[in-house]
Amino acid sequence: MTQAVRFHDQHVDEASASFLDDVMAGLSARPKALSPKYFYDQRGSQLFEAICRQPEYYLTRTEEGILAAAAEEIAAIVGPESLLVELGSGASRKVRLLLEAMRPSRYLGVDISRDFLLQSTRLLAADYPWLEVHAAWADFSQRLCLPAGVEGRRVVAFFPGSSIGNFEPQEAEVFLSRLRRAMPPGSGVLIGVDLVKDRGVLEAAYDDAAGVTAAFNLNLLERMQRELGAEVEVGNFRHLAFFNEAASRIEMHLVSQCAQVIGIDSRRFAFSRGETLHTENSCKYRLEGFQALAERAGYRPAAVWTDTDRLFSVHYLSTDALSTDAD
Ligand code: AVJ
Repeated sequence: MTQAVRFHDQHVDEASASFLDDVMAGLSARPKALSPKYFYDQRGSQLFEAICRQPEYYLTRTEEGILAAAAEEIAAIVGPESLLVELGSGASRKVRLLLEAMRPSRYLGVDISRDFLLQSTRLLAADYPWLEVHAAWADFSQRLCLPAGVEGRRVVAFFPGSSIGNFEPQEAEVFLSRLRRAMPPGSGVLIGVDLVKDRGVLEAAYDDAAGVTAAFNLNLLERMQRELGAEVEVGNFRHLAFFNEAASRIEMHLVSQCAQVIGIDSRRFAFSRGETLHTENSCKYRLEGFQALAERAGYRPAAVWTDTDRLFSVHYLSTDALSTDAD
């Protein structure tokens, strides 16, 4: 018989209030901007899964190839019986590549999309009857603490997909440092990091021919309509993605195709023609650059795996500080 998923509610129920506040603030800012975490309502989470299947979006399949090939090595470094915590677990597909080799005793999926989290952790529990499965509905960018009853053992924080790229490097350092302090000694972070590469390859990955990434970006406006009753002509915005080489990041924007207004409650937010709402940064790293960032956050970069084309990397960062002994 399948074990039930243990559900932990870490209060994302304030999410729609914060969505309203953040939309108001973001549309008032100059330049206009909104956090990419708001992409992931039920529809956005589904669209993101579809992005991962697009031929141009090399990230997912490349990372999965790396994880599958490195699973035994990762397991040997981590050891059995850990608590495996997946941050932004989404469909919980990648973790399946690790479970048999790693044999953790507990899995905790953390995601901001409640229904998606429940569906995917239930499937995981059904497929791995030996695994104790927990689900925490939480916004880990706001709050990083293990739910009561799940804390207190060696933790492997699994942060795949290059989601760390949504933070600016300085924010990523702060986030990783906070994460380190939330874990007991002997823990580590297994993290996927997308690498700097040819502009054409990068830009195609964020503007697929089938238009799925465009739909994902535009869903943010539809979500404003659905949840906030926003008055917005979605058809008057266009998806834009480009590589900002100086900042080493893909930027996604929604570009206003004409002078227009978004209305929310009694507020009106004017866009000029060509003005953008900046919806995402996806930072790209070089191997050494990311390892240096990890060290500044207090980790020891213990191992790194890449594909042969060096498109993507997976790092294991140990919380055990760099040895100062003379060994
Ligand atoms: C989930 C943040 C890693 O930046 O590649 C995919 C999100 N945005 N296509 C990424 C995303 C557009 C994705 N991350």
